[in-house]
Amino acid sequence: MITIFDPASDIDLGTPARESDVQVSLTIDGREISVPSGTSVMRAAALLGTTIPKLCATDSMEAFGSCRMCLVEIDGMRGYPASCTTPVTAGMVVRTQTSKLATLRRNVMELYISDHPLDCLTCPANGNCELQTVAGQVGLREVRYGYEGANHLAEAKDVSNPYFDYDPSKCIVCSRCVRACEEIQGTFALTISGRGFESRVEAAGGENFLDSECVSCGACVQACPTATLIDKSVVEIGQPERSVITTCAYCGVGCSFRAEMKGEQLVRMVPDKNGQANHGHSCVKGRFAWGYATHPDRITKPMIRKHINDPWQEVSWDEAVTYAASELRRIQLKYGRDSIGGITSSRCTNEETYLVQKLVRTAFGNNNVDTCARVCHSPTGYGLKQTLGESAGTQNFDSVMKADVILVMGANPTDAHPVFGSQLKRRLRQGARLIVIDPRRIDLVDSPHARAELHLQLRPGTNVAMLNALAHVIVTEGLVDEPFVKARCEATDFARWRDFVSLPENSPEELGPICGVPAEQIRAAARVYATGGNAAIYYGLGVTEHSQGSTSVMGIANLAMATGNIGREGVGVNPLRGQNNVQGSCDMGSFPHELPGYRHISNEAVRAQFEQAWNVTLQPDPGLRIPNMFEAALDGTFKALYCQGEDIAQSDPNTQHVTAALSALECVIVQDIFLNETAKFAHVFLPGSSFLEKDGTFTNAERRISRVRKVMDPLAGKADWEATIALAEALGYKMDYRHPSEIMDEIARLTPTFSRVSYAELERHGSLQWPCNDAAPDGTPTMHIEEFVRGKGRFMLTGYVPTEEKVNSRYPLLLTTGRILSQYNVGAQTRRTDNVAWHEEDRLEIHPTDAENRGIVDEDWVGIGSRAGQTVLRAKVTERVAPGVVYTTFHFPESGANVITTDNSDWATNCPEYKVTAVEIVRVSQPSEWQKRYQAFSDEQSRLLRERRHAEKAEVRR
Ligand code: SF4
Ligand code: SF4
Ligand code: SF4
Ligand code: FES
Repeated sequence: MITIFDPASDIDLGTPARESDVQVSLTIDGREISVPSGTSVMRAAALLGTTIPKLCATDSMEAFGSCRMCLVEIDGMRGYPASCTTPVTAGMVVRTQTSKLATLRRNVMELYISDHPLDCLTCPANGNCELQTVAGQVGLREVRYGYEGANHLAEAKDVSNPYFDYDPSKCIVCSRCVRACEEIQGTFALTISGRGFESRVEAAGGENFLDSECVSCGACVQACPTATLIDKSVVEIGQPERSVITTCAYCGVGCSFRAEMKGEQLVRMVPDKNGQANHGHSCVKGRFAWGYATHPDRITKPMIRKHINDPWQEVSWDEAVTYAASELRRIQLKYGRDSIGGITSSRCTNEETYLVQKLVRTAFGNNNVDTCARVCHSPTGYGLKQTLGESAGTQNFDSVMKADVILVMGANPTDAHPVFGSQLKRRLRQGARLIVIDPRRIDLVDSPHARAELHLQLRPGTNVAMLNALAHVIVTEGLVDEPFVKARCEATDFARWRDFVSLPENSPEELGPICGVPAEQIRAAARVYATGGNAAIYYGLGVTEHSQGSTSVMGIANLAMATGNIGREGVGVNPLRGQNNVQGSCDMGSFPHELPGYRHISNEAVRAQFEQAWNVTLQPDPGLRIPNMFEAALDGTFKALYCQGEDIAQSDPNTQHVTAALSALECVIVQDIFLNETAKFAHVFLPGSSFLEKDGTFTNAERRISRVRKVMDPLAGKADWEATIALAEALGYKMDYRHPSEIMDEIARLTPTFSRVSYAELERHGSLQWPCNDAAPDGTPTMHIEEFVRGKGRFMLTGYVPTEEKVNSRYPLLLTTGRILSQYNVGAQTRRTDNVAWHEEDRLEIHPTDAENRGIVDEDWVGIGSRAGQTVLRAKVTERVAPGVVYTTFHFPESGANVITTDNSDWATNCPEYKVTAVEIVRVSQPSEWQKRYQAFSDEQSRLLRERRHAEKAEVRR
């Protein structure tokens, strides 16, 4: 369904919309209205513009009917029914405003107010409190019961959560918070304990909110009609005065937010009800963890230095870009055109990413450009292009609400894509069946009121074997959707694939032991997936970050095609993208072999189009990928790197290899908001801008292009796109844009899948899913409906080749890595927020049996050694991992998780094999040698930063 953006839909209509083919007509206060069957009287009245007072109802949740504020009179019905819980019927005659109703509502309000502190003038919610508003609506002027009786006014506040307070003295026990936590977030952390007068909200599983099961998503705060649950920032700063709609800069869900401002200060981020990816929901990162944007660690002045052991010198923008350009040209003169390159950022906007790849292809004159998707979803790009013809997921998030079977493979949505995770759990509570294929017992396996029917807890590195075994069952048990395959797919490729997966060596009985999963479980999962109705696959980095990542992606596409689960709502192949704009950075031509829109650089016609628009001659051969850049740096043929908004020294595998390569470069130009790990090896630092400081667009995992809107001026004086333009011009290549909308206009002119995208169209629609062109002017929520983008779907052979990373007596355990809800990626942002209250260090998860065998108990310091290196973390003994498998996150640089990971990578794309590293774990009492070296180097770099010179003229230029 295409949604045209309607700003008026911000109004709370009291109860959720209903979908029905049957329209019901009724009369409210003498006016007629027709609404879909099942609509409440309250909503029908609101649609007529009639406000019925309400406290416990809100249109993001099902009606509850507890406050008795919304009473109405209905002809033929006895008493005064609650309009929120009464559905409309044909011919109904409703009165919402009578003197009797007014008296009843005032009486109810009197009772509420008699147990409520009358401190409106000093209350942080003053002016934005529904209780206050409704008291005004019902005309309450006096409270006859007095305030002396039993009340809750002296109850203590719970201020444990770093982001919001709970003040029970203001609670009207409307249960909106409890229902928000259940219906919207799906965590079920809140209950109303006690009865009657003793009723109070309680966070389960702990003494207070912080210790409880609450995941701090903010849904309850959003739902609370009073100041009972309220943002600390509102308490501190006051009520916001204006707001700007923008897009979260954390994960690939791409939630839309209202950045609420007071003057030039950001007060809070409120999830946008009209947000087409999030529908008014959020997670702790987007909702609360934005304080990093103005953190004192922000570097807001350009800096340069000749050597990495020199102190930094603050310089003007002009000096910095002139110095950077002169170094790049010097190096090219000395070592050749291809001795320099650039890395685009999946954290930056589409427009900024487009400019960096354009800078490399034009001003640098080569194709040495790559992006962090290299290390996450490059296999998705390759695998889906080969099979379906387009390097992107096939659905929108809402599609999951039509799925009957949900297969989650190598993804952990409740931690890494939390708002989608909540939506997925909502569908599970409605009865969809869940299969989880993951080495770890992720939360989805057993969460409140949602449980996986099957958890195939496979050994890391055996995804392809698992997919082949599933395919074997589908083919040999006659579960293939033959009409779909016949009509939609290449017959020869299908026949070849069918014969291949039918081989006995691909049976669950043969491959199950390799995966460590009983054959019967694999057979059961295949049957549920193939016969359970609409079946959708969601996968993540647990699929792609392997030596056979691309093979697994093709295996997933094969399963979807074989069962006809593609080309409509409720099905599909859905990569859950990691970073906010990783889809966009790939779309924008960040890979060395592709121009924007995934068109190969060797294609002469495409190249000619760009050559004409950019007024240059483009090189026809692909440039260096990130790992090739490292190799070439160590070989001495690659000498300079422009790295925008990526922290390759922390995020890329085999840290010691990466830092050796960075150390070998003569010029490293880093553009970032903090002096990150990579910047410690830099010679030029260009201060970056946060998402709050610029205009642009992000593209989320659904191919949804959403606006990023500037809410404050860039702290460093330039947005990232402006810095790239300055560097291009210093290199002698003119980039003439006055606003990012003009960059998007150029992207649209040159990229067929974006041809109808513009800022004006984005304003009109709210957001747009590409392809958005003359064939699909309103965008494309579901792809491959009539035919695949490549015409016929292509089954690819997916032979299982075990990874070279094998366990042996020296390294008997397999390490796999992942994310946690409260931290994000390399942690540069979330570590600088109060999210550290939940996760202040990376831990190593180890099974009790493996721990006991090594004499390890919870909290022990343990050394983790692999063929690549050693590090030390604290142990967390848990059954979330199976025996033989250990797990850690990688959010803190000093953890050195990537000191352990190896150089192994995907055969097709070089995506690193982060998910499989053979290791040994031992108890230790001190940090590893690498950690000691890291600490000393970091301390020295911090000193060089602290002692930076504020010279008027940069010494390195003299
Ligand atoms: S905390 Fe707020 S939402 Fe929850 S019951 Fe009290 S008043 Fe209602
Ligand atoms: S913040 Fe979210 S998880 Fe926590 S209690 Fe509120 S709704 Fe539940
Ligand atoms: S789910 Fe992702 S996009 Fe949404 S608020 Fe959380 S981090 Fe931001
Ligand atoms: S709003 Fe209807 S009973 Fe509370």
